[in-house]
Amino acid sequence: MSHTKGFTLWFTGLSGAGKTTLTTALLPELAKHGIRVEVLDGDEVRTHLSKGLGFSKEDRDTNIRRIGFVARLLARNGVNVITAAISPYREIRDEVRASIEADGGEFIEVYAKCSLEALTERDVKGLYKKALAGEIKSFTGVSDPYEAPLSPDVVVETDRETVAESAAKILAELERRNLLATITRKAASIF
Ligand code: ADX
Repeated sequence: MSHTKGFTLWFTGLSGAGKTTLTTALLPELAKHGIRVEVLDGDEVRTHLSKGLGFSKEDRDTNIRRIGFVARLLARNGVNVITAAISPYREIRDEVRASIEADGGEFIEVYAKCSLEALTERDVKGLYKKALAGEIKSFTGVSDPYEAPLSPDVVVETDRETVAESAAKILAELERRNLLATITRKAASIF
């Protein structure tokens, strides 16, 4: 079986749950398998592709649909993609999954699960403190909805696991789907 399409590894989870950290950890591991990946990170996408969008449901949906659209274009041309945006709404995530799968691409939903207590304690960006004080309106998980996936392909519990443990779980899922065998396949096709 060959994978001419790229895979889309779609993180979902609250701000600070580890989506970007895990993406950063996965890249060198994937590189060891000869796998290159394009990354679409929510914070970064919001500085250009989604510049000007806010955090209303409508704007978040637009942001996620844009990320999904780009992921689909890349994946159908054989480019692997990791997306790291909160993507709080189930319906939009499912819509993106359906559009990518309709093109024959693999969509792997990874739920970065972390308790609000741990996030508030970590609070790397200082946003939870402000959100809890009411200084940021509509903050996901505090004053705005987050719909956890009902049947994610992988769940990483970032308040209980090390980065390496969580990354290993994700790599195991890619392995299970035979998505890590690029080098072997390429080598095999030479002979
Ligand atoms: S999404 O809801 O549209 O998927 P996205 O992942 O792009 O969100 O952006 C989330 C990031 O924006 C957070 O990590 C945080 O740094 C910042 N942010 C600013 N305001 C909010 C808010 N009201 N809710 C969530 N994140 C916010």
